[in-house]
Amino acid sequence: MTQFGIIGRLSLAAFGLAVSALAGAGSAGAQGNLVVYCTVQEEWCRGMVDAFEKKTGIKVAMTRKSSGELYAQIKAEAANPRGDIWWGGTGDPHLQAAEEGLSEEYTSPIMNQLHDWSVRQWEQSKKRTVGIYAGALGLGFNTKQLAAKGIAEPKCWADLLNPKLKDEVQVADPNSSGTSYTMLATVVQIMGEDKGFDYLKSLHRNVNQYTKSGAAPAKATSLGETTVGITFLHDMVTYIVDGAPIKAVAPCEGTGYEIGSMTLIKGARNMENAKKWYDWALTAEAQVIGGQNKSYQVPSNKGAKAPPQAPDFTQIKMINYDFAKYGSSAERTRLLSKWDKDVKNLPK
Ligand code: G6P
Repeated sequence: MTQFGIIGRLSLAAFGLAVSALAGAGSAGAQGNLVVYCTVQEEWCRGMVDAFEKKTGIKVAMTRKSSGELYAQIKAEAANPRGDIWWGGTGDPHLQAAEEGLSEEYTSPIMNQLHDWSVRQWEQSKKRTVGIYAGALGLGFNTKQLAAKGIAEPKCWADLLNPKLKDEVQVADPNSSGTSYTMLATVVQIMGEDKGFDYLKSLHRNVNQYTKSGAAPAKATSLGETTVGITFLHDMVTYIVDGAPIKAVAPCEGTGYEIGSMTLIKGARNMENAKKWYDWALTAEAQVIGGQNKSYQVPSNKGAKAPPQAPDFTQIKMINYDFAKYGSSAERTRLLSKWDKDVKNLPK
């Protein structure tokens, strides 16, 4: 709806603008180290690290973990921070970290190159996190498995409750995974909290595994290890592009989306280098590295062309996801403990 309209239009507008390399982003031969906590797919993390090291001469140590895991790690390390910058992952835990004072305020000199939805994330967090990409939540199914089992194609969230899909649906655990937290918050926003939790309890009967990472069900769907996976649509596209028998679906009731975010960690030992990464990661030059590594999110820099494979947001019924509410510390903590108590340990 409103938010979706903005993203849809902006993704279409994101073509062909030349963006000059950021002055002061570092030059080859510069010294020093940087510890990057990364929450996108491993290939994209590596692509970013390689390009940044080449450009700046700064040596990067990178750890890849899921959004909820890195949020918890940064919190646990707050007295003695070991990471410098957290790059990628769904926006909600970045917003929670901002509210809890785990991140550093920063105004990049290239904020004016970013889409409104990215800047809004930054304003909402009081300059403590910024949008680097957007992605829409959805589901994907293995067409061969579904046909072999004689199950109707799911088109809606409601279709995933089909008893024929018992043990055929895979999704991540929302505690570790930002993807799955986005789904939890989406279902609550679409159905209301009581009906949303009833839905999640019923869905539990059909879930074969709650994975740690949000994109894992896309790989499992591609391999036929699960018939249906719930992930961001672009994670399904990664396997479709490689020829996997997957059909990706934007659910008929509407769906939520993420503003993948970036945060400077408060007390970072290598703060100057972290700011160099931050400024560079917002450039169009850096943001096309996603598409080059089979990650098909919509970039936040207006000059970074969205990969042609990126899901077309204008074709998706997108909800007006309430980031202020669902990224707040109290709400995220409350919903996760409710999910643990009411859903996770339910017998099947
Ligand atoms: C994948 C997606 C990203 C998303 C991330 C969240 O890498 O491609 O768009 O931000 O998952 O990871 P998580 O494991 O926390 O769900």
